[in-house]
Amino acid sequence: MCGIMGYIGKREAYPILVNGLKKLEYRGYDSYGVCVLSEDQDFLYKKVGKISAKADIEEFSGNCGLGHSRWATTGEVSERNAHPHEYNGFYVVHNGIIENYKELKQELMNAGHEFKSETDTEIIAHLISDNFNGNLENAVSQSLKRIIGSYAIAVASSRERDKIVVARLSSPLILGVNEGEYIVASDASAIVEHTKQIINLEDNDIATLTKDNYKIFTQKKIEIIDFEADASDKKGYDHYMLKEIMEEGWVIESAIQGRLLEKDVKLGGLEDVKDKLRQASKIYVVGCGTGYYAAKTGEYLIEEIGGVNAEAHIGSELRYRNVKFNNNEAALFVSQSGETADTLAALRKLKEAGVLPLGVTNVVGSTQTRETVGGVYTRCGPEIAVASTKVLIAQIVVLAMIAIFIGREKNTLSEERAAEIIKELKELPQKAEEVLNKKDEIKEIAQKYAQYPNFWFIGRKFNYPAALEGALKLKEISYIHAEGTAGGELKHGPLALITEDVPTIAICPQDSVYEKMLSNIEEVKARNGKIIAIATEGDEKIKSLADDVIYIPKTIEELNPVLSIIQLHLFAYYFALALGRDIDKPRNLAKSVTVE
Ligand code: M6R
Repeated sequence: MCGIMGYIGKREAYPILVNGLKKLEYRGYDSYGVCVLSEDQDFLYKKVGKISAKADIEEFSGNCGLGHSRWATTGEVSERNAHPHEYNGFYVVHNGIIENYKELKQELMNAGHEFKSETDTEIIAHLISDNFNGNLENAVSQSLKRIIGSYAIAVASSRERDKIVVARLSSPLILGVNEGEYIVASDASAIVEHTKQIINLEDNDIATLTKDNYKIFTQKKIEIIDFEADASDKKGYDHYMLKEIMEEGWVIESAIQGRLLEKDVKLGGLEDVKDKLRQASKIYVVGCGTGYYAAKTGEYLIEEIGGVNAEAHIGSELRYRNVKFNNNEAALFVSQSGETADTLAALRKLKEAGVLPLGVTNVVGSTQTRETVGGVYTRCGPEIAVASTKVLIAQIVVLAMIAIFIGREKNTLSEERAAEIIKELKELPQKAEEVLNKKDEIKEIAQKYAQYPNFWFIGRKFNYPAALEGALKLKEISYIHAEGTAGGELKHGPLALITEDVPTIAICPQDSVYEKMLSNIEEVKARNGKIIAIATEGDEKIKSLADDVIYIPKTIEELNPVLSIIQLHLFAYYFALALGRDIDKPRNLAKSVTVE
């Protein structure tokens, strides 16, 4: 989704803005722009396509400026719709949606304003111009009172050249605090190379930045971000996605580090809420996209291991449903970014209804971590590729640990069973590495099938969400049609589409539903469909049924999806590679979906 950059200080703003926008590229964008203000001149540069502008400090000299990468929502992809938007010397970059922009635009047009773009953002510049009375922050504050919707904005002006004003409502904005300079960005990855001291702005905050000072209308504590600048580099891999898949063993290690005891787990973020969790009659698990598949896996894990009813929900659905919530229920919100608008909306709804809101979040300091009362971090470091991979793996591991925590608190899980799961969790990083070591084998299979335009993914129980994830990842980065189905659902409809031209990836490790999966494979074979099976090492029987087999090491059935999903991530990656796709930045998609 769109990215904001702003700089004010002693250095040349232009190269900092352009480099920052490059760091934000992973969020997805279709056009970009930069404005730089010197002591007596303004420069504005906008372009459709990839960020290619070289830092040309002679032309774009100045110590204050704004940058933006746009992911079109209101108005087509074009230079005139790219940000910054300027009116009367007021420059605005904006993430979010102004819901009442049509009314405001009409009102401004009636008063004689002329617009250069089709965007909702441009009206902000016009409103600020009308409200300007010698003080930029007052003008911004007055203008925002007219706006309904969500925003993170940064404003600069030729009327007050030594100042940037920023504000947020429901869209993330972070302030980097450095000696004699301030950097503002939509996320920390664009700031971390300059400073680790950040302030997370909160909803309704307005801040004024000059090169010597900053003022926030509500005072904020400076936090220290916990990742190094090189954590967001490709480290020699061709794509961030491959780098992040290859970290899937490490993220398990990081997620379990210090959290596993012999017969129990230690989750500091749940300590203060454990009494409430013990009494919870139901646990909602909520997410969007891949986060929802983690939630769905979590639902199964919590009911199986935790011994309490759990219900997975898609954030965008739950926020509008009329579920009768109870104040003896808890909810786990699962999100990499912690900024997904639909997940946050569901969070606010459940919190309002008295449900205990907890987070499974990757980004420290994100809105989700601030609006939940407890939770567990996934500790994966930055995830840059638009397709989420390593964080899903960590989310499942964290949810398994939460399930143990709940089971032990409620006494629905015996010490012996907890010890068995914990032992398997400890062995999981090594098993994940074994799967990753098979990447060349998976690459060959992906290349073999790369000409097929339709794919089916089937799995049962813990591997049903894995099938959904396999299909999503494939369609997301290779743009081919793929669907995930619970194995048992095949004969209720999808089987009609199975032919020799529609291969099926069947996730069938030796677990409690293994025989059922074999029957599903037979159903596909009977329609001449090809089968790629993900099976448990040593399973010879499967070879006679499947066209290709990829093996995963043996583990308990609750943890099987972790290993099968690693295979599916590698498969999707190599499939898209064979088709020559833009893997890290798939078309039409954004990394962090901060608008509805
Ligand atoms: O940041 P989140 O985990 O809340 O993001 C949720 C989804 O937008 C995200 O998982 C999306 O589906 C990915 N592109 C999937 O690879």
